[in-house]
Amino acid sequence: ELGGYAHFMEKEIFEQPTALENTMRGRFSEDGSTAQFGGLNISAVDLRQVDRVHLLACGSAWHACLVTEHLIERFARLPVEVDYASEFRYRNMPLGSNTLFFTISQSGETIDTLAGMREAKRKGYKVLAVSNVVGSTIAREADGGVYQHVGPEIGVASTKAFTSQILIGAMLSLYLGRMRDMSFSEGVEVVNALKGTPDLVRKVLEQAPRIREIAKRFAHYHDFLFLGRLSLFPVALEGALKLKEISYIHAEGYPAAEMKHGPIALISENCPSVFFVPSGEMFNKVVSSMQEIKARKGKIIAIATANCDLPAGLADEVITIPECHESVLPVVATVPVQLLSYYIAVELNRDVDKPRNLAKSVTVE
Ligand code: M6R
Repeated sequence: ELGGYAHFMEKEIFEQPTALENTMRGRFSEDGSTAQFGGLNISAVDLRQVDRVHLLACGSAWHACLVTEHLIERFARLPVEVDYASEFRYRNMPLGSNTLFFTISQSGETIDTLAGMREAKRKGYKVLAVSNVVGSTIAREADGGVYQHVGPEIGVASTKAFTSQILIGAMLSLYLGRMRDMSFSEGVEVVNALKGTPDLVRKVLEQAPRIREIAKRFAHYHDFLFLGRLSLFPVALEGALKLKEISYIHAEGYPAAEMKHGPIALISENCPSVFFVPSGEMFNKVVSSMQEIKARKGKIIAIATANCDLPAGLADEVITIPECHESVLPVVATVPVQLLSYYIAVELNRDVDKPRNLAKSVTVE
């Protein structure tokens, strides 16, 4: 069953290129300029009327919503609200009339997400679902949705389901964008970028042996920070969650610039930071955040795109990820933190697939 892998989590991390291919299969238009979905059950005319998107989920799926928020805003210029499903239920917030709800749930059985979805439906809204489990309660009760098609995810820590959810988030953003201001040629560019994701993920997976070495050197720390900006902030949250879940090491994710508003007090030689460093508009800003950490003796693991010119000696370890389009960057950047958390947990002899106190699907409120 494990096919030579030591744990389901490891197998599922390495399955991602194929899983992502399966998520995308048949889901691009013939002219190669947009995405298409068979089961949304909502006409283009109705979708065009949507003026706000509300996303509900828990855990890693909530992080996937945060990535999707960023991409919908970028590509479709629609305002997006992201809620923990468990909070939405009790917030009773004022809602607009042309809001479209989306829930994301790998299992399709998470009770908080289901309850949030039922609350939105009770208020008269259409709710679509992204789920991996065909015929799950959330998939059945939704008005329509998108299946992930990544195969069963056994490890408690979500890996291939998470990257598939953010890929679907990018495809939905493209679809909504192409109905609005996104041009044909920009659509083609995004489609080509999305199609290239599995190969980019393969390239990151090739670095597993090196990431394992880094993990060995860092496994004895008790606190970690994960720092990223824009669409990589949710990936930082996801990295911190992975590490907490399976290694029981305390970790927090923050937007890098927030450090100076409090968390930097934690930094010492005993608290390493994992930085996401993409080239482009944020590069210099992230480098200056790294310098602030370095000045306080904090160790740094940088996950940097290949074209970044990082100042020598700033990071203690650099994991290079391929240069890529913004629509796929969050997927590509997730893989190194999955591997890092996995190898740290293995180094500590943790029960990786069944971490203490956790269940694969949370069916109690
Ligand atoms: O099945 P779901 O996607 O609804 O699950 C939501 C969370 O319980 C889940 O993502 C959880 O946070 C994972 N253990 C994260 O690795």
